[in-house]
Amino acid sequence: MPRLTSSNRQRTAVETSPLSSLPLQGSVHNLTAQSLPNIGIVEGSLTEKIVGELWSAVENAKNEPVSLKGSLAGNITESLVLDHSARILKDFTTEVLPGFIKLYLEKFGGPPVKYISLKTNDYNFVLDKLWVNFQNKHEFNPLHDHSGALSFVIWMRIPTSHKKQAELPHIKDANVKQFVSNFCFNYVDILGNLKTFAYGMEKSMEGRMVMFPSTLNHQVYPFFESEDQRVSISGNIGLEAI
Ligand SMILES: [Fe+2]
Repeated sequence: MPRLTSSNRQRTAVETSPLSSLPLQGSVHNLTAQSLPNIGIVEGSLTEKIVGELWSAVENAKNEPVSLKGSLAGNITESLVLDHSARILKDFTTEVLPGFIKLYLEKFGGPPVKYISLKTNDYNFVLDKLWVNFQNKHEFNPLHDHSGALSFVIWMRIPTSHKKQAELPHIKDANVKQFVSNFCFNYVDILGNLKTFAYGMEKSMEGRMVMFPSTLNHQVYPFFESEDQRVSISGNIGLEAI
């Protein structure tokens, strides 16, 4: 435990160890640690039924491909528009998305949209864009944010294990190896320090969906030594005045 000391005789050393010997009993009431409020994210795992419907939408997009690469940051093989009005996605758009948004509103009060002077009940949420990303080895998605109020990502196929990726010869001795192949949020803490929240990419993440404020920066690091394609679905939800 740290010990506060000083050469200044006006100061008093504060001994903090061992904790159990501190004279708290009778001196302090309700001693608590408090995290300062911040905006967060919502995540959950989709059912096999919903994931199957999303795969059907992906197959439809491959049959009539409309590329979205020109308007996206990703340095990846392809991103295709998904038809979010298709009947096959009805459960996703009428159950999954509202469920995620509802929890987001309950927990965080509303989307952190700047420069829009709408009162809480003055708008509806609308799914603006939905697309699928195909990422091969060595490809990446640089630090970026999205348009809209809330955005989301769904990991559909993860062909690699980030734990195994971290053991690759060019990574295993590195000082920083926790990011390889992973999806990361980047944000500043209350002291202005840049922080990274990484989702470790494993097969077990397939079907996992994360909803986040659209302007929250994020990036995807490359994976190596796998010929399989990584597939994710992304979307942007905007606001529409009532
Ligand atoms: Fe993104």
